[in-house]
This record gives sequence, C-alpha cells and structure tokens, in this order.
Amino acid sequence: MTGTGGSLPEKILTNRDLEKLVETSDEWITTRTGIRERRVARPDETMSKFAVQASVRALEMAKLPAASIDLMICATVTPDMPIPATACLIQNRIGAARAAAFDLSAGCSGFIYALSVAHQFVRTGTYRNILVIGAEVLTRYLDWTDRTTCILFADGAGAVVLSADPEAEGRGIIASAIHTDGSMADFITLPGGGTLHPPTEESVKQGLHFIRMKGNETFKLAVRSIEDVCREVLGAAGIGPDDIDLFVPHQANARIIDAVGNRLGIPKEKVYLNIDRTGNTSSASIPIALDEANRKGLVKRGDRILFAAFGAGLTWGASVLRW
Ligand SMILES: CC(C)(COP(=O)(O)OP(=O)(O)OC[C@H]1O[C@@H](n2cnc3c(N)ncnc32)[C@H](O)[C@@H]1OP(=O)(O)O)[C@@H](O)C(=O)NCCC(=O)NCCS
Repeated sequence: MTGTGGSLPEKILTNRDLEKLVETSDEWITTRTGIRERRVARPDETMSKFAVQASVRALEMAKLPAASIDLMICATVTPDMPIPATACLIQNRIGAARAAAFDLSAGCSGFIYALSVAHQFVRTGTYRNILVIGAEVLTRYLDWTDRTTCILFADGAGAVVLSADPEAEGRGIIASAIHTDGSMADFITLPGGGTLHPPTEESVKQGLHFIRMKGNETFKLAVRSIEDVCREVLGAAGIGPDDIDLFVPHQANARIIDAVGNRLGIPKEKVYLNIDRTGNTSSASIPIALDEANRKGLVKRGDRILFAAFGAGLTWGASVLRW
C-alpha cells in the first residue's frame, strides 16, 4: 500500500444541530454512538467529487501518475447515478486512461470487499497498480425525521493505492476474508429506486428512497461477526491480536468498536477512532480513518494493521496488512 488519501465535505452537522430536527439529545447520540459531529455534502456536491479528491491525494502520496493505474474499484452504495458506474466518471476525471474501472456494492463492508478483490489481482500478477476507493454521500438518502438513522450516517471518501513490488518482502495484504448472510438482508435497506420499487411519485411518498435499519439487531450481530472474522484473518496470517500495531475498524458505532477491541484484547491506544468527527460513512470510513492515521505518522514501515467491517447484506470482512 503505497499511498492513502481522504476527502470530507466542509459542512459540519453537530448533534446540537440534530436536536433542532428530531427528538434527540447530544448526550444520547454521544453515549450511544460516539458521534459528536459529522460531515454533510452540499446539494451540488456528489460522491465522485470526494472520490476524485481522495484518489488524487492517494496517487500523490504514492508518487504514481494516474496513467499507471491498471484497475480502479470504487466501493459505494451511493453512486452518482445508476448508470454508468461512478468509477468510470472518476477514471476520466483523474486521467487514469489505462484503468479498467467498476463500482462494488457490499454495504459498509465495501472497502474490505474491494481490498480483497484488488489483492487477488495483485497476487496473481494480473495488475501492477490498483486504486481502491471507498466513497459515499449517504445523507442524500436520510429521512431527517427518523432519529434512529439520521444521527448516524454521513459523507466522505478515502482511497488507497496498491502496487505489486517484488522487493516488498512480506509487506502488503497478508490475509483477507469476506462473508455474507443474505437471510438478514432486511436489517439494513434502501428499498426504493431499483427494479423492485422503481422511483415513482408513490415510492417517494412512501419514503422508500430512505435508509432503514434494525439498529439493535444489527448491533448484536456486528460485534460477534467482526470478532469472528478478525480471528479468522489473524489465524490465516499466523499472528495473534498482540501482534497488531493498529486496528482500523469501520466506524459504525464506538460501542461496537470498544466491544470488539475488548473481546480481541486489543488495547484502546491501538484502535483508531474518528467516528466522533465523521459519523458512519459506510464504505468510506476505513480508508478515511487509515489516511488520517497515516498522515498523523501513526503507521510505520513493518507495522501490522487490522481492518474490519460489517454492514448491509448482511456482509462482513477483515484484512491484515503489513505496512
Ligand atoms: C442505531 C443504534 C445507535 C441505536 O442504539 P441502541 O442502543 O441499539 O438503541 P435502540 O435502538 O435499542 O433504542 C433505544 C431507545 O432509544 C430510542 N432512540 C433511538 N434513536 C434515538 C435518538 N437518536 N435519540 C434519542 N432516542 C433514540 C429508541 O426509540 C428506543 O426508545 P424506547 O426504548 O423507548 O423504544 C445502535 O443500535 C447501532 O449503532 N446499531 C448498529 C449500527 C450498525 O452497525 N450498522 C451496520 C453498519 S452501517
């Protein structure tokens, strides 16, 4: 992983601002989720805008011209539009003319899924340079009268560059695992806008274009599944939780992250948290957090980093990376 980049909207929405919209309190949101404020895109800002900024920053850090990118994967559930894939728009804007580009949808686990796909292409020698993006503008799909969801989700983008390097000597992605259980697909949904409920006046009236979530049920499953998949990738990497230098989890809820950290025995100072400032940015949360940690100098050559996520699908996954 030779470069990281992130991009957040400028506009900040605080818990106090939300108190004016729904029956909630700063105290409830902070203690139940760990979120104090989040970033929200302006009406004229699209997912691709943030994805392009994050990509350019990652490529600058990697000192890699966009023309050298072979493959681009954009993990997202909030594309600019259904057709074409937003990865194609990003490809054109950053000038990655040689790259094949596609979107990947795996809920909040999208970035881990995309990393896992990219890893296969690097490992088989098919591609040399891959740009993996996680980007979302989730606030477009929030019901600002539903206090169970509008306090959680937010906007932003992160990107990483993966490059094949014969001299990497064990550095790079060491192990990854991805899982799905479609029997609980109804836990987190955005039912409208697809072939089941095409966008009509009626579908909008029914609020089918809003994100819905069974939060409490999701919470319990998330803790158990993330712990299991972390143990799975640590086992595959031949290391234990003690060998992890930094844990960068999907920022869904600080209580989920605390519970997973405790169960794995990873001390708090090794867990990177930014949910207090970013909220839940779904596919974007891990690459945004990683880029912050990296630019703060918290990642050193040879460090072992654990990534893990859980989300709509239901999907979950984890990766271990040697920096
Ligand atoms: C959404 C979430 C923060 C809710 O926290 P919780 O502790 O589970 O709360 P519950 O849903 O059990 O609700 C408890 C009470 O708080 C109320 N409540 C819900 N949202 C509230 C809000 N924003 N402000 C004040 N009260 C709220 C509920 O109505 C409920 O009231 P009741 O007991 O009178 O019915 C939490 O369940 C969560 O983070 N879930 C997982 C999200 C996730 O990981 N998603 C997958 C990845 S995106």
